[in-house]
Amino acid sequence: MKAKVLITGVSGQDGKLLSEFLLEKDYEIYGLVRRIADRKFTKEGVNVIEGDIRDTSLIESIVAKYKFDEIYHLASISDVAYSFEHPAEVYDVNINGTLNLLNAIRKTNIASFYFAGTSEMFGKPTTKPQTEDYPMEPVSPYGVSKLAGYWSSNLYRQAYNLPIYCGILYNHESKYRPENFVTTKIIKGVKRYIKTGVKFSLGNIMALKDWGYAPEYVRGMYEMVHNAPTPSDYILATNEQHSVKEFLDEVVKLAGIDRMYVDESLYDVTTNFPVVTFEKSLYRPNEADNYMGEYYKAFKDFGWKPTIRFKELVRKLYEEIEV
Ligand code: GDD
Repeated sequence: MKAKVLITGVSGQDGKLLSEFLLEKDYEIYGLVRRIADRKFTKEGVNVIEGDIRDTSLIESIVAKYKFDEIYHLASISDVAYSFEHPAEVYDVNINGTLNLLNAIRKTNIASFYFAGTSEMFGKPTTKPQTEDYPMEPVSPYGVSKLAGYWSSNLYRQAYNLPIYCGILYNHESKYRPENFVTTKIIKGVKRYIKTGVKFSLGNIMALKDWGYAPEYVRGMYEMVHNAPTPSDYILATNEQHSVKEFLDEVVKLAGIDRMYVDESLYDVTTNFPVVTFEKSLYRPNEADNYMGEYYKAFKDFGWKPTIRFKELVRKLYEEIEV
């Protein structure tokens, strides 16, 4: 009999990648999709369940009915800038949604449960690299909501002895990232400039992040749930730090643009046209940065390590993302 898995947020980047990964492994896959988020989502091999993670009775009934072997809880509102505009909605979806699932698995007590934590829970670290026990002091409503989900997952793991695994994932990118995230925004923006000569805008390009390739991170989720010696918390990251500006510079170089920074813009030296303008209005009220994650615990416990490093990541994304 095939193992049954539930992926919440299956229509998001990580959900799509994880369902592709698990299809290769011959799982019976169920994917929860919020209609408002992606009403047309279909994927061969994925049984789509339409519903809202905040709907307590729906979540309880799905978990009781299908008796999943594994649940990967990836559904959340994950746009950090959006969370400053709509904190109540973000708390509601990200915290109550997680609580609904935790209560449902507590009642059935069968599933291995993966919670999608994030580097954003660390806020603005003062030292690097960060390890799993680095103080968690989030600086965005998104980070606060994820920390509540993370602590709730830890609490249920300890109090009810449940097999709950928490990933603490640093930025991880792929062609499935929508344009409200900076990597796709930069690549599409530069490619559009080449086609049309139209510039685009960015916010704070000095933010320091640790970027990896998302398909390697979903493999890490699976390996954590299957091969970690005991349910625990694990950082998945690259242990490298790069600024948004470095990412932009690499993309501009790949596009063959000879660049020059003047005041608040990046210019194409050949045409003298602006390619990017930097706008204070796109800055976040609080910038979460100085990220650099040490993945040693994941490597030691289940052999996970990233193989795609910064320059290769940018090149791959540049090849894979179309305008
Ligand atoms: N989105 C965006 N748009 N970001 C910009 C822009 C812009 O125009 N200009 C500068 N940035 C900066 C942001 O301020 C941030 O420091 C950085 O680019 C990356 O932003 P995002 O790509 O939006 O990602 P994020 O770091 O805020 O969060 C992502 O990674 C987290 C860690 O894995 C999201 O995927 C989160 O959900 C995730 O938890």
